[in-house]
Amino acid sequence: MDSEFNWGEAMANIIDGKKISSEIKSELADRVKELKNKGVSICLCVIQVGDDPASSVYVRNKKKGCELIGIESVSYELPENTTQKELLDLIDRLNNDDKINGILVQLPLPSHIDENAVIERISPLKDVDGFHPVSVGNLCIGRPGFVSCTPAGIIELLLRSNIDIQGKECVVLGRSNIVGKPMSILMLRQNATVTIAHSKTSNLKEVCKRADILIVAIGKSRFVNSEYVKDGAVVIDVGINRNDDGKLCGDVDYDDVFEKCSYITPVPGGVGPMTIAMLLKNCVESANLQGKI
Ligand code: GUN
Repeated sequence: MDSEFNWGEAMANIIDGKKISSEIKSELADRVKELKNKGVSICLCVIQVGDDPASSVYVRNKKKGCELIGIESVSYELPENTTQKELLDLIDRLNNDDKINGILVQLPLPSHIDENAVIERISPLKDVDGFHPVSVGNLCIGRPGFVSCTPAGIIELLLRSNIDIQGKECVVLGRSNIVGKPMSILMLRQNATVTIAHSKTSNLKEVCKRADILIVAIGKSRFVNSEYVKDGAVVIDVGINRNDDGKLCGDVDYDDVFEKCSYITPVPGGVGPMTIAMLLKNCVESANLQGKI
């Protein structure tokens, strides 16, 4: 009977980011209710400069996420020709506004605005993206603070899938400020042995093949195939790309790697949904950091 099922082949467990992110959002909604009962309400402010269509989708989804868990959001959709001074002045006002708990400036910004200057202007107490140098420093030395949402979401995926991290070889492929670097620190915090690999790493395939947990954030469509993966490895795909047919795909060649690994995240539906869940978690946490709870 079961003729289509090949019992001889290993099957990877698919890590369902949609399901796990829904669980987290439902936990957050309960927490928000509790806080409301204590008279604490939370408000995120989202700023978009210009009308990049991808950014508009992200901003809309962030606002929808707030609504879902019962926190307020306000947004500023500013014109493309907004000056850096106007944006910094707005951030100053929001930093001083007691009703605003989190401030998020959607990136990328138009080229005439210095992104670092903008990130550094946001109060570290309201930096729900976790991009401020103070947040990054706190992460590195293990102090409380906001953690970049995508890497924090990956830790949740691993922990909630009961994947052992302690003592494991972890290779993070990619070294961006938003994903690769904070990811490596978070895995170190979980007692993994961490290697950061990147496009200039010698013998990249061999290095990746050492990994019990391989986290891929290199930004190249289906770059990692089965030759990069050890038998039984856990593979986390952070990439969001479009293939030649316009379909979403990750940085991992999913079909090629699937039978070799023990766990894998799909694209879409893996890491992606976790980013907003962790942004919402940071918003809820902000009241704590601000001493309001
Ligand atoms: N642009 C793409 N991803 C992000 C993100 O996580 N935060 C912000 N602020 N901008 C982004």
